[in-house]
Amino acid sequence: CGIVGYIGNREAYPIVIKGLHRLEYRGYDSAGVALINPKKELNIYKKAGKVKDLEDFAASSDLSGSVGMGHTRWATHGEPNDRNSHPHQSGNEKLAIIHNGIIENYGPIKEELISRGHTFKSDTDTEVLIHLIEDIQKNGNLDLQEAVRVALHEVIGAFAIVIMDKEQPDQLIAARKGSPMVIGVGDKEYFIASDATPIVEYTKNVIYLNDNEIAYLKRDELLIKSIDNIVQTPYIHELELKLEMLEKGGYDHFMLKEIYEQPRSIKDSMRGRIYPNEGKLQLSGLKQYEEKFKNADRIIIVACGTSWHAGLVGEYLIEEFARVPVEVEYASEFRYRNPIISEKDIVIAISQSGETADTMAAIELAKERGATIFGICNVVGSSIPRLTHAGVYTHAGPEIGVASTKAFTAQVTVLTLIAFYVAQIKGTVTTGKLVELLTELESIPTLVEKALKANDLIVKIAEELKDSRNCLFLGRGSGFPVALEGALKLKEISYIHAEGYPAAEMKHGPIALIDAEMPVIVIATKNSSYEKVISNIQEVKARKGIVIAIVTEGDTDVKNMADYTIEIPHADEAFLPLIATIPLQLLSYHIAVMRGCNVDQPRNLAKSVTVE
Ligand code: G6P
Repeated sequence: CGIVGYIGNREAYPIVIKGLHRLEYRGYDSAGVALINPKKELNIYKKAGKVKDLEDFAASSDLSGSVGMGHTRWATHGEPNDRNSHPHQSGNEKLAIIHNGIIENYGPIKEELISRGHTFKSDTDTEVLIHLIEDIQKNGNLDLQEAVRVALHEVIGAFAIVIMDKEQPDQLIAARKGSPMVIGVGDKEYFIASDATPIVEYTKNVIYLNDNEIAYLKRDELLIKSIDNIVQTPYIHELELKLEMLEKGGYDHFMLKEIYEQPRSIKDSMRGRIYPNEGKLQLSGLKQYEEKFKNADRIIIVACGTSWHAGLVGEYLIEEFARVPVEVEYASEFRYRNPIISEKDIVIAISQSGETADTMAAIELAKERGATIFGICNVVGSSIPRLTHAGVYTHAGPEIGVASTKAFTAQVTVLTLIAFYVAQIKGTVTTGKLVELLTELESIPTLVEKALKANDLIVKIAEELKDSRNCLFLGRGSGFPVALEGALKLKEISYIHAEGYPAAEMKHGPIALIDAEMPVIVIATKNSSYEKVISNIQEVKARKGIVIAIVTEGDTDVKNMADYTIEIPHADEAFLPLIATIPLQLLSYHIAVMRGCNVDQPRNLAKSVTVE
């Protein structure tokens, strides 16, 4: 899931290892490095487990060389063990490869290669690719560059690869199709990585490799060609990323830091976009498509995971204020369902990473069918913003914790802006009302700050809940996606089974689970469904469930019924998700810490899922 490469005049190993640590947040289950030492020997070290395990394993070995690459793997083909870890080698052991993504047609290629005498040491698709390159090189009598190019024409799937040849220690070859790859341009040195985080401390100048491009890197030369051998002119971007954004800054975990960053990240996501005094919004990304939005028959939101939950909040907001019908789809379902899409549809794709494979495929499909595609992404320069017609970035800053927190609230903020913007251009909300709404929206970062003050109380509640085996989250209206997101956070990082439900649906099933052992977390703030939620709480209490209620400051009714209440400041119903999410994030965080879980890198999860 993470790639790092270096070629230059420094020792490669420390740079590669540090880079792998920087990429740990993406999620992985094994790691490996390859280095070519000054004697032109290729040394490969790989290990299931963490980067630290790899370091311990390799500590007393030959780590010399000024060209090297490293990889963190998130298992797709073959279980996570030492053997299946990357780098993989060609049969003659001259070539080494690291690879992100999937080679879909590896099966038939493998069979063909076996029939030609190749034997394989791992179960991976990656090893098949490097054998294919070797085979093409040998049989066609081609140089490595050409063999790589020919091989990439034969494989179907998504990849970002880096290849080393021990006989050409002054060269790295990198290529991408569908999986991200960034090249850092230094002084007589180049860096390669899956995202800019391993690069930023060495150089601010980066090139984002495009799909179907191959980069040939030497210490003082970089050549980029298309897979059809046409020389490309790369564009050098300047990174805005700062090193301190990638550090924990005094917090025990990135997740906690990111939870506490939300007043800032929400503010940054609306900065320069709202004018409360005039009741106006400006979204430059949307401007050009104003007519499309005005005349849209329908808005389809596609996303995965937490971003999908943000989409559900978007549905409430857009339908309520802009009066356009909205459908929210799991990208993975949408793409395989032969969906009905017309040119008057707008598709909004939401993705923190901008790299999620299913979301990308959903975009491609909708694009083919003529829809206008709009992106809401956090990572600048990632793939999705390049696939879409237009979009609005969230300004959450790098999110390192695998469990999404500040990216979610930033997505919800941007969706709120979109709902209000479309309302503005369609005239479905008066300017007077927009003045009111935007004034309140501007104060949300302060209210989020207040909500964070419940932390000490939440620690105490976490203490009570930490040994639970199950947990139910209930909410109504826009509190329902908040409940879903609360449940997702808890299961992701504490491994407690949790489910989110619309509060009224509880009686159609989950109520059967309720007993004195079952914590039920209810969003019970004072809004239009308050009375109804109170009835739901009574239904839980009648069955002896443990109720933890998120209530509006000053509430007494729910307080009298619930076992625990967490107060949040009052806000218009439209902004409830931005505030009510905060205590749920903290609750999951503390429960996971108390259970001794690896909060920032929960087992089996990846930050960006570049496979389908
Ligand atoms: C993974 C992450 C989630 C994220 C989801 C969608 O599962 O662990 O936190 O919500 O992918 O990712 P995206 O980058 O598209 O928002």
